[in-house]
Amino acid sequence: MKRRAFLGLGAAAVATGAGWALLRPASPGRLLRSTAPLPPRFQARLPIPATRQGTAITVVQREADLDILPGLKTRAWTYDGTFPGPTIVSRSGTPTVVTHRNELPEPTVVHLHGGHTPAESDGYPIDLLLPVNGGSGHQHHGDMMVGATATGERAYRYPMRQRAATLWYHDHRMGATAPAVWRGLAGFHLVRDDEEEALPLPAGDHDVPLMIADRSFAEDGSFRYTADHVEGVLGDVVLVNGAPWPVLEVSPVRYRLRILNASNARRYRLALDPPPPGGDPFTQVGSDGGLLAAPVTHDVVDAAPAERFDVVVDFARWRPGTRVRLVDRLAGLDVMRFDVTGARQADDSTVPAVLSRTLEPLGPPKRTRTFRFRQSADGTWTINDEAYRPGRALANPRLGEVERWRFLTDFHHPVHLHLDPFQVLSRNGRGVSEYDMGWKDTVDVRPAEAVEVAVRFTDHTGTFLLHCHNLEHEDMAMMADFTVE
Ligand code: C2O
Ligand code: CU
Repeated sequence: MKRRAFLGLGAAAVATGAGWALLRPASPGRLLRSTAPLPPRFQARLPIPATRQGTAITVVQREADLDILPGLKTRAWTYDGTFPGPTIVSRSGTPTVVTHRNELPEPTVVHLHGGHTPAESDGYPIDLLLPVNGGSGHQHHGDMMVGATATGERAYRYPMRQRAATLWYHDHRMGATAPAVWRGLAGFHLVRDDEEEALPLPAGDHDVPLMIADRSFAEDGSFRYTADHVEGVLGDVVLVNGAPWPVLEVSPVRYRLRILNASNARRYRLALDPPPPGGDPFTQVGSDGGLLAAPVTHDVVDAAPAERFDVVVDFARWRPGTRVRLVDRLAGLDVMRFDVTGARQADDSTVPAVLSRTLEPLGPPKRTRTFRFRQSADGTWTINDEAYRPGRALANPRLGEVERWRFLTDFHHPVHLHLDPFQVLSRNGRGVSEYDMGWKDTVDVRPAEAVEVAVRFTDHTGTFLLHCHNLEHEDMAMMADFTVE
């Protein structure tokens, strides 16, 4: 779709509301244009975030002036001074304690997205981490519900009793997640295990995390944001690992690309241009919750906010010297470019026909619950007609029991569950889509769809969250507690 046509749809949809479902727009949301001059495409090199390993890690949340646009500084909220924050690397079965120190001017909350985490470390939206030095003074919590609050530092304890997967961490404060993530509070957290390491998949420099996030910039280089676009905020600059439309030089061998859509609201249909001879450039090996049972090939990858697609691309399929653009076919945007350089060489990586033998389908569900994701007449985003209120659980599942959860929508909503991943059972009573494979923690529910998933909550009782991962919808109350008993 051409960019202009897409913008037109966005504007029309605001006015007509229900028109959305018929028009099936590219991304739910409204474009916020940059007032800074847009940077040139394909000038920056793809940054690779620094990695941090160990069982006790400290991360300092602080403001930093980043070099994103030529000649301007971008004042960002960061984990350890970079956007994305450092990539934390854990071993399955080895607990990791991440201590966050808040030197930002406002309270924060950290959630490990995809983490199998006890409630007290899960980043409940009112479990605030207050700034070290009290912040800027305009924080009065008197009129606000406050949970387990810490001042200065908080240790988040992650047991890591979960399989290898691409997780990410980001801010999750009540009503303030969207602007905080937009300003830079997001990073990768990888879990590794023996099952995955025994496979001959591309590794080392050929295992590349790609955090894709659209942003807009003000004249002074700062991130431009508005709370007015309640459908979702779309940016006009695509950042990958924090750099605008970057380039990665690749050898003509296989690469594992861990794609994360960390955008607030934008959905992507990712394609490689030119395509390789024979098509199907992407061989998906993993999703949100780690390895698939067997690889799935894709011509394009549809990624809603918070979804992860772990894909292998064999750059030997293009002639050395080819510049291969990663593009978004929904809005007609460039994302980044891979420049295939160097001579053909031996490649001892492969994608085995069987990836994992540990993906048993969950047994028959004991009960079914239905969640309707809808915009109320006053514009609030609701679940089962309720705006989020901490402490009011919409479901009380029993520990260890399999349940069927049905998600019904009026609009595009990427639905996310905390605590445990799920398996998608059906869409509109039919089979699942090619993007629903494996263990998922976020599922793209499209306008007027009904998606059923099987889920079983394990190990941890307590209160967790179910919400839309369009971050503007989340902040506008499309979130609910569920309490595992
Ligand atoms: Cu990625 Cu509840 O969040
Ligand atoms: Cu939503």
